[in-house]
Amino acid sequence: MPSLASSQASTTVKMALLRVVLVLVGATVAVADIAAAGVRVGLTRVHSEPGVTVSQFVRDALRRDMRRRAWFGRELASSSSVGTVSAPTRKDLPNGGEYIMTLAIGTPPLAYPAIADTGSDLIWTQCAPCSNQCFQQPVPMYNPSSSTTFSVLPCNSSLSLCATLLDGASPPPGCSCMYNQTYGTGWTAGVQGLETFTLGSTPADQVQVPGIAFGCSNASSNDWNGSAGLVGLGRGSLSLVSQLGAGMFSYCLTQFQDTNSTSILLLGPSAAQNGTGIRSTSFVPSPSTPPMNTFYYLNLTAISVGTTALSIPPDAFALQANGTGGLIIDSGTTITSLVDAAYKKVRDAVQSLVTLPVTDGSDTTGLDLCFALPSPTSSTPPATLPSMTLHFDGADMVLPVENYMILDSGMWCLAMVSQTDGAQSTLGNYQQQNLHILYDVQAETLSFAPAECSTL
Ligand SMILES: *[C@@H]1O[C@H](CO)[C@@H](O)[C@H](O)[C@H]1NC(C)=O
Ligand SMILES: *[C@@H]1O[C@H](CO)[C@@H](O)[C@H](O)[C@H]1NC(C)=O
Ligand SMILES: *[C@@H]1O[C@H](CO)[C@@H](O)[C@H](O)[C@H]1NC(C)=O
Ligand SMILES: *[C@@H]1O[C@H](CO)[C@@H](O)[C@H](O)[C@H]1NC(C)=O
Ligand SMILES: *[C@@H]1O[C@H](CO)[C@@H](O)[C@H](O)[C@H]1NC(C)=O
Ligand SMILES: *[C@@H]1O[C@H](CO)[C@@H](O)[C@H](O)[C@H]1NC(C)=O
Ligand SMILES: *[C@@H]1O[C@H](CO)[C@@H](O)[C@H](O)[C@H]1NC(C)=O
Ligand SMILES: *[C@@H]1O[C@H](CO)[C@@H](O)[C@H](O)[C@H]1NC(C)=O
Repeated sequence: MPSLASSQASTTVKMALLRVVLVLVGATVAVADIAAAGVRVGLTRVHSEPGVTVSQFVRDALRRDMRRRAWFGRELASSSSVGTVSAPTRKDLPNGGEYIMTLAIGTPPLAYPAIADTGSDLIWTQCAPCSNQCFQQPVPMYNPSSSTTFSVLPCNSSLSLCATLLDGASPPPGCSCMYNQTYGTGWTAGVQGLETFTLGSTPADQVQVPGIAFGCSNASSNDWNGSAGLVGLGRGSLSLVSQLGAGMFSYCLTQFQDTNSTSILLLGPSAAQNGTGIRSTSFVPSPSTPPMNTFYYLNLTAISVGTTALSIPPDAFALQANGTGGLIIDSGTTITSLVDAAYKKVRDAVQSLVTLPVTDGSDTTGLDLCFALPSPTSSTPPATLPSMTLHFDGADMVLPVENYMILDSGMWCLAMVSQTDGAQSTLGNYQQQNLHILYDVQAETLSFAPAECSTL
């Protein structure tokens, strides 16, 4: 499994001495529980403020979905000055349609909401004291000095983002690693620590896991509404899945418009689907360079609308040797983006099946194909469309119309966009509603089955 720390890159290393706080970790070891059984966590979608329409929400989601290049800046905090490091990470900031999980940090445990993101690795939360550069969070801020289980992650740990800066040399005593992870317009910076985390949505199945490496952020941009941080579920060694050795995880996202039910995230063997209709496809090996090494790539070979296979070039979604292209599945992106050659065919197919007048919805929604509804207050689509099928290698994913069309403010729009800049295509969470999706990182497969997620 590729690690962000193994990336080659260049930046500036500034050094300052930090005392490593050594604290013995408590005896509650639960990693084994998760590997043997599992843990269940509730997920809620970040909802827009009251009065915000779906189209405003989608537009904001898209604004944050696109045009992102992200970087990891790192510094060794120790006694003298040396060099520079930065490494690219995920392309997109999770974008307003993100899902929030609640977990707890420290001893005694302090609960906080965090964005669950399969498109990045770092687990981070805001740490007090935090002067003027912290964003407002919905719960009291974690303070490492109030926890008996906090310690600074030593620079020579295999999980240190600064490991490569040392280049094999032994670290200065008390050396800690300062990071600055940038997610496009958003960023978060602080020092890497170790803590005990408590996972599980009900006291009955809560597990405590000591020694999880995380980012203790004391400066961040203001892009994390509704959360107090983020939990990375990507392929890298710093992600929660990797650190737990969970082997697999799954989630089931309730219908987008359903603000009442809770979606679920399952970690460990209990994540497996039960029942029928399960399809599986192998992950395509990721490029070894960041940020691509974090992503879960899939082999999408064709797309159909109804029974009609679209004439998309067979290599449209191929991952290129130089790391461009390909298609990833991401819980932290809302709207699916498809490489332009494929997007155009999908757009044409949908347009040919809908008899409503086309209207320009790009200003209000950011989406490129919208139809005008007979009444601005229509709350049900005036017509139906067949399902769309994504043909993955060995597994067809059937998207009912509500997984690819979105209804709002008198418009009915295709909830997909075109990807033109050579970046990968992304299967976003709007398209993943009511599917139980299992990432088996050990078997290197993605499995999915239709599910009524609100009842799981
Ligand atoms: C890290 O460095 C410390 C102090 O130099 C040393 O005692 C420890 O064994 C090292 N750990 C690893 C994983 O290299
Ligand atoms: C982190 O990086 C972002 C983007 O480069 C920059 O705007 C921000 O000031 C940096 N934060 C810190 C604390 O260095
Ligand atoms: C964050 O912590 C680092 C290390 O202690 C310190 O150098 C930096 O000034 C702090 N930043 C803010 C904004 O408090
Ligand atoms: C999100 O953050 C922005 C900037 O701080 C703020 O204006 C807005 O009210 C916040 N929205 C929510 C729902 O918290
Ligand atoms: C959600 O709950 C509210 C209040 O209990 C209810 O009025 C509404 O109909 C529910 N919505 C759905 C989609 O179930
Ligand atoms: C599937 O069944 C197993 C055995 O009964 C159970 O442990 C697991 O939690 C179930 N998975 C889901 C997602 O319900
Ligand atoms: C990557 O490779 C593809 C296919 O060979 C090529 O079309 C593209 O221009 C390359 N992109 C970069 C940034 O090198
Ligand atoms: C994708 O699937 C097709 C059809 O099974 C296969 O021919 C191709 O080799 C696969 N590509 C990758 C990268 O696995």
